[in-house]
Amino acid sequence: MIHTATARAHANIAFIKYWGNRDEELRLPENSSLSMNLDGLYTETTVIWNDAQKENSLVLNNQPQLGQALERVVKHLDNLRKYVPSLPNYANVISTNNFPMGAGIASSASSFAALTLASISAANITLSERTLSTLARLGSGSASRSIPTGFVEWHRGDDHESSYAETIASPDYWDLVDIIVVVSDSHKKVGSTEGHQSARTSDLQEGRLKHVDNRLKICKEALLNRDFESFSEVIEEDSNLMHSVMMTSRPPLFYWQPASVAIMQQVKQWRQDGLRVCYTLDAGPNVHCICVRKDVPEVIKQLKTLSAILDIRVASAGSGAYIVQSDEVNSQ
Ligand code: DP6
Repeated sequence: MIHTATARAHANIAFIKYWGNRDEELRLPENSSLSMNLDGLYTETTVIWNDAQKENSLVLNNQPQLGQALERVVKHLDNLRKYVPSLPNYANVISTNNFPMGAGIASSASSFAALTLASISAANITLSERTLSTLARLGSGSASRSIPTGFVEWHRGDDHESSYAETIASPDYWDLVDIIVVVSDSHKKVGSTEGHQSARTSDLQEGRLKHVDNRLKICKEALLNRDFESFSEVIEEDSNLMHSVMMTSRPPLFYWQPASVAIMQQVKQWRQDGLRVCYTLDAGPNVHCICVRKDVPEVIKQLKTLSAILDIRVASAGSGAYIVQSDEVNSQ
């Protein structure tokens, strides 16, 4: 028998950032984080377990993969097997992102969330959302947050079992929208995994961590009260703090580009002028402008007056990971 399942998971944008691990192998983060899944931006992954073959394969966006991408997937499958020993040994993995790789939207969260759910389901195993979140975390920290639906908190925890993400509000709780302003489509030179490893080399990481629990509390309360003003202040501060750590790490990581800074400054100005919009940036130069749905046309109108913008994408709060299809087929 060949067991197969297809899962879909959304990308997410962090409002309170994950940056730095206490345990790199288990991806136990230095701090808890908070994010929103992004509707319409997803990875769909099919896992076909087949022990009649003696190696794993990966096809990503219709391109067969060898090297680093395949190694990371195989490592994840091996990790999953440590916790779920009944998983078969070899798989064909076929994965597609519905957003371009260079669009400034991190694909590791949606990829490893979809891979985790598809791998487990293809083996006909059902696990709790919490367990799936811990397992997805082993592949990519932010993937733990793409398992549950809507607005999500990842508890840093003390060990593998206690470091998981859960929903704090459903997608329709607040009509926040992420307007992703693409200013660069080149692939980043230093990825998040390397970045996490150097976070402690910055003198500022300790300072960032000192009040992060408080920022998360303020952010969560602002979200639950739909208080845009407090929300804006705290997410911009948290993003700036993470980038300050990045810029002062050894070697330094500069993700901002002149256009990123120009947009951040404009967003601040627009807010002072009464337009309810704020910003946050992940490990890249593209700016995520956050506002409520009714303000989207005005924010886009303003953004279009600026130069150096390559593309604009709009996403509202999305669901958690789910199974699209699951089958058992006879290999003969
Ligand atoms: C800046 O989850 O991509 O987007 O665990 O090494 O895969 P790995 O890192 P990743 O790091 C995300 C960093 C961030 C902030 C965030 O999403 O919280």
